[in-house]
Amino acid sequence: MKDYLKIAGKTAIITGSGRGIGRGIAVALASYGVRVMVSDINDETGNQVKEEILAAGGQAEYCHCDICKVEEIRHLVAETVKSFGTVDILVNNGGGGEPPCDFDTITEERWEHYIRFNLSSAFFMIQEVFPFMKEQRSGKIVNISSGYAIGGGDQCAHYASAKAGVIGLTTSIAKEGAPYGINVNVIPVPTTDTPGLREADFELVADEIPLIPLGRIAVPEDIANTVLFLVSEAADYVTGQIVAPNGGKRMLV
Ligand SMILES: NC(=O)c1ccc[n+]([C@@H]2O[C@H](COP(=O)([O-])OP(=O)(O)OC[C@H]3O[C@@H](n4cnc5c(N)ncnc54)[C@H](O)[C@@H]3O)[C@@H](O)[C@H]2O)c1
Repeated sequence: MKDYLKIAGKTAIITGSGRGIGRGIAVALASYGVRVMVSDINDETGNQVKEEILAAGGQAEYCHCDICKVEEIRHLVAETVKSFGTVDILVNNGGGGEPPCDFDTITEERWEHYIRFNLSSAFFMIQEVFPFMKEQRSGKIVNISSGYAIGGGDQCAHYASAKAGVIGLTTSIAKEGAPYGINVNVIPVPTTDTPGLREADFELVADEIPLIPLGRIAVPEDIANTVLFLVSEAADYVTGQIVAPNGGKRMLV
């Protein structure tokens, strides 16, 4: 029998994986035999995801990490290497926005927070795992951006700017990583049914559905399925790409 993905036994870190899309990615990778480091700022939900993976027969550990803090990023990567020996896969999922606001109401403090939460966090995570991937001459990095990065954000200039930065980060590191067999790609996540979305602006979803050719918003499994491909051997020739599972809402990204 052939094995399309060839990811069993690999080690992955998924930031912000205590719920929502991150949880979906962690559970999906573990179900294909990936050893998963679940990581979140919320230890209760993070540990629940770890237990869920273990109960399903997968392998997982949990490590607290506030991705806004570089020292916690360093701790997360060190703990992963301690537990699993290396890092093969990094999914920079952690991040998020806030309810729509006019750009001229965004304070310096909020601007800097959302850039740090969505962009600097991914940069420092990559900096920390890169030496391990470089040494083993292989690695797969997937950055989670947003459709807002390319299609116009609805009153979220700080969040949209940070997520657009994640695309530039992806293409830049993809070039630096290529000589070492490190692939870096980005998913501009569309509207996806998660606790975060439901807490923010779920009432806007009804207006969006008629604009989506496939007739529904995404669920975390849609994003996880794209991640599975991008971290697999099947995607060995894919790097520096914007890969968009968006129900056809935006075509030819
Ligand atoms: N859901 C959507 O519609 C949508 C659309 C576009 C992009 N995205 C992106 O997808 C990613 C996941 O979104 P989601 O909807 O699953 O979010 P969510 O709010 O449902 O879950 C986010 C998780 O991140 C954790 N978290 C919060 N602050 C953290 C921090 N400082 N450090 C580490 N973890 C932290 C939370 O505890 C939570 O478990 C984010 O990067 C988001 O910007 C989501």
